[in-house]
Amino acid sequence: MPATSRRVIVTGAAQGIGRAVALRLASLGARVAAWDLKAEAAEETAKQCRQRGAIARSFRVDVSVPEEVDAGVAAFERLWGRPDGLVNNAGIFPRAHALDMELAQWEHVLRVNLTGTFLCARAAGRLMKDGGGGVIVNMASGRALAGAAKGAHYAASKAGIIALTKSLALEWAPHAIRVNCVIPGVADTAQPREELSDEELHALGASIPLGRIAKPEDIAGVVAFLFSDDAAYMTGQSIAVNGGAIMVP
Ligand SMILES: NC(=O)c1ccc[n+]([C@@H]2O[C@H](COP(=O)([O-])OP(=O)(O)OC[C@H]3O[C@@H](n4cnc5c(N)ncnc54)[C@H](O)[C@@H]3O)[C@@H](O)[C@H]2O)c1
Repeated sequence: MPATSRRVIVTGAAQGIGRAVALRLASLGARVAAWDLKAEAAEETAKQCRQRGAIARSFRVDVSVPEEVDAGVAAFERLWGRPDGLVNNAGIFPRAHALDMELAQWEHVLRVNLTGTFLCARAAGRLMKDGGGGVIVNMASGRALAGAAKGAHYAASKAGIIALTKSLALEWAPHAIRVNCVIPGVADTAQPREELSDEELHALGASIPLGRIAKPEDIAGVVAFLFSDDAAYMTGQSIAVNGGAIMVP
């Protein structure tokens, strides 16, 4: 099914990579449900999708709360029918040293990043299964491969997303649901800017083989490819998009 006819949920769509993904898919003709905790900013994303000629709505959904996820998917179905696309992009990266990390901090990050990805995939996957298939793209992180000082919870959650991707791909291939994963390197969004200054980001970019950190659009382009028919024979894969910073074997 071409990207032009997709009905897609993008989580964490209020800003950064999620917004770029929503706009890119909207430009390709997809209907977009922009999910986020930040209702106003998510609506701005939906508005920008509509300005590109797409049908789009925003929804305030916390991906870590099963009832909210299930209600969000049900609302989507009432509005537009079954979703046939999902981008599990919502994620958090609060910094904490492992020795000082409270169990609650650990559990919160796992809950949003990993459990949230599972909950959204489960809710959308149930409808995709009955609707003839679909495409799911999960957002991992280079930290899953390289580890993260002050981010053990984050790195573990993102490594879990890679394994979850493969498991869902295996289970759901018979239902024509493709599940793939993007592994971004550092991208210029609020997330790295919480920790790094302009100068530090610039120095980091200079250390990357392609000479810069990613723009959110660099990640969105690969998500769009995974949605396209050109990726029809791909499932269970994790694609690193990092300017060559980590060469995945
Ligand atoms: N920016 C990077 O350098 C980078 C690198 C690797 C991976 N990633 C991953 O890419 C994704 C997007 O990153 P970004 O840099 O655009 O982040 P961001 O912080 O700019 O945006 C994340 C969005 O997710 C939303 N969100 C957080 N918790 C949520 C919840 N419980 N329910 C619904 N929405 C929620 C936030 O409100 C925010 O709008 C994340 O999963 C992140 O871990 C980012």
